[in-house]
Amino acid sequence: MQGPQIEPLVEDDRERGTFRVHRSTFTDPAILERERSEIFDRCWLYAGHESELRNPGDYITRKVGGRPLLLTRDANGQRRAFLNSCTHRGNAVCRERSGNARVFTCFYHAWSFNLEGSLVGLPGEDAYSAAFDKKQMGLKPVPRFESYRGMMFVCFDPDIIDLPTYLGDAREYIDAMLDYGGDEVEIVPGAQAYSMRANWKLLVENSIDAYHVMSTHQRYFRQFLPDIGMDPNQWIGPGSMSATRGIALNNGHALIESPLLPTPLTGSAKLELEGIRATLDEKFGKERASRIADYSRNIFIYPNLILISMWRTVRTFYPVSPDFIEIDAWALLPENESQELRERRFENFISFLGPAGFGTPDDVSGLEGCQRAFASQKEVGWSDISRGMGRAPLASDELQMRAFWRRWQAMMLGADGPTDCSDGSETAVATTATQ
Ligand code: FES
Ligand SMILES: [Fe+2]
Repeated sequence: MQGPQIEPLVEDDRERGTFRVHRSTFTDPAILERERSEIFDRCWLYAGHESELRNPGDYITRKVGGRPLLLTRDANGQRRAFLNSCTHRGNAVCRERSGNARVFTCFYHAWSFNLEGSLVGLPGEDAYSAAFDKKQMGLKPVPRFESYRGMMFVCFDPDIIDLPTYLGDAREYIDAMLDYGGDEVEIVPGAQAYSMRANWKLLVENSIDAYHVMSTHQRYFRQFLPDIGMDPNQWIGPGSMSATRGIALNNGHALIESPLLPTPLTGSAKLELEGIRATLDEKFGKERASRIADYSRNIFIYPNLILISMWRTVRTFYPVSPDFIEIDAWALLPENESQELRERRFENFISFLGPAGFGTPDDVSGLEGCQRAFASQKEVGWSDISRGMGRAPLASDELQMRAFWRRWQAMMLGADGPTDCSDGSETAVATTATQ
């Protein structure tokens, strides 16, 4: 394989307990080029949720893996995913973010495609020769398109393993997040779309990093939480971290998990939450209901999907350049809860993860600061990611990031099969966690 030497960029010594990553991985355009071909073109990528295509004719457009996509629900109710590029001379056939339609008419020369992607009309059809085959000129479907419990994924590698196998042990944790919604969860219309002048892998690390929360998000913990009647010491006080865990799953998926604090809600919203909990107890039994409802988890699905259970958030991102990413985030909420509870969830979501919340701007500042300082990589060449090696990992350790980087390195080297992403010693912990 031509291009950058990957092997020396991740130094992983499980015996000694050292792990470091060279900072050129965050800045080198040749690395990003390789990431596009070896990672983003070869992994399942989250594209949307089935609740966004509820009725025949519903459609959404978005960029996934760098490509413009058009996802539709056809007249028979089947969901489909196409490249949103006209087979005539390339324009996007749909320029809206979402809606309901029977045909998509390209703005440029008015070729029309139906919900199944077929070319159904073009002005001046008689100008084409007999060799022009209209049937071959439909919208191009993405090579692979599968759903897991309503979450739609695409892959640009036709030979990839099926989605459930790909998700592997992560399914247990995805299930826990989805089961909270009872039978149905839905993406609330609207998204947060923002960007950051930072490498995409910095956001992977940050999204599963409990080590930074107290230093980076002091104001949220020391000021905002007490203001709304919560005791932050339950979360961040001495010893609170010991109840948390960092977990490396198979093939780069990973998560952090911590016990959830008692809710500050009162009145009918609190009663409604108690009702949800009683339903979970009944449906899943007390033990599993507790695993569903009593923990906060940030679940990372390799390579670029984060599920944040506390804020019921789905977040994905993609690099535009080594130092710039575009991020999309949606709220995934139970379908049948009251307006009041939904509003409280949104307040909670926006107060931390909103673009002007207490969390996201801090993180943007942290990550952009790293990216800028990587200019000194000739002198300060390495990032240390060894925290917690050699012990049962806590959420404030960095095992979950090492899991990502181990898979990253394996895939950048062209790996076809699975990768052992564990530190070795914590395997027992990870196995227990999936039961
Ligand atoms: S590019 Fe779409 S009709 Fe010409
Ligand atoms: Fe953060």
